[in-house]
Amino acid sequence: MGNPIKATWPISNCLTPLEKGCVHIWSFHTSKPSREVESLSTLLHPNEINRAMRMRSLEVREQAIVGRAVLRIFLAGYLGCDPKEVAFEHTGMGKPVLANRKGLFFNLSHSHGLGLIALSSCAEVGVDIEKIRHIENSLFLAERFFSPWESQTLSRQNTGEMQSVFFQAWTRKEAFLKANGHGLGFGLDRVEVSLGRNETPRIRFVDGCPKEAERWTLLHLEPGMGFMGAAAFQGPGNIRSLTWHWDGKENPRMK
Ligand SMILES: CC(C)(COP(=O)(O)OP(=O)(O)OC[C@H]1O[C@@H](n2cnc3c(N)ncnc32)[C@H](O)[C@@H]1OP(=O)(O)O)[C@@H](O)C(=O)NCCC(=O)NCCS
Repeated sequence: MGNPIKATWPISNCLTPLEKGCVHIWSFHTSKPSREVESLSTLLHPNEINRAMRMRSLEVREQAIVGRAVLRIFLAGYLGCDPKEVAFEHTGMGKPVLANRKGLFFNLSHSHGLGLIALSSCAEVGVDIEKIRHIENSLFLAERFFSPWESQTLSRQNTGEMQSVFFQAWTRKEAFLKANGHGLGFGLDRVEVSLGRNETPRIRFVDGCPKEAERWTLLHLEPGMGFMGAAAFQGPGNIRSLTWHWDGKENPRMK
């Protein structure tokens, strides 16, 4: 199921109810001054802080803290509770879900200072964002991890397009793997996605099966200059994509 909608990212601080069939996608910055990171960290559960503290660099630690805090702020806004009261549990594959499964599905991704949160009221959703950057051995990686059709399509791109098409493939596949909750352990080559600037975003095959692929909607997202993103969910969806600028004072509120 393709989706030709081109996402735009107007700035907003207003949540609107997630009606049946709606998917909301919020982008936000994860690079914050230390005092803001500290203030956001007070929203987290001690386990979330401990997990972040084990991460390799200050940048990645702060990104994890801000990502989780913003996720809590948004979920609380949609659920009508305090961000600290949002309770997570994790599926066997590590996907965070709401402990009480209140009919609110979400997924989070962050990369190099930018984050995305996708929310849906009726179906699992997956989202991925990557900063487009030079990867030395992208064709080798594609041959190793992508399907033969995808790596051949990538090898036909001109040098200028190669990196963005590589990350288009990566984010589309990962969005699907995050929606079905398996993560990378599922195998990147088991899902084949459309590629190229003018191609409608869609899942082509799952385990070689076009029928399973047709059940999914895939969105192409460009949430910021130099970033590539994708979201995946089952069935059609009415999409809203917005940017949240946190001023340190006011959390997003329901209109
Ligand atoms: C989930 C996964 C795809 C994340 O990839 P990433 O590009 O490094 O990170 P992103 O920023 O896009 O996403 C991270 C967020 O995804 C969410 N997430 C974690 N596991 C997830 C899963 N199995 N499915 C969906 N979402 C998941 C979390 O919210 C996480 O952020 P948080 O921990 O701060 O809350 C990857 O770590 C993974 O596959 N993990 C599962 C374990 C696994 O299969 N390992 C085998 C490696 S070969």
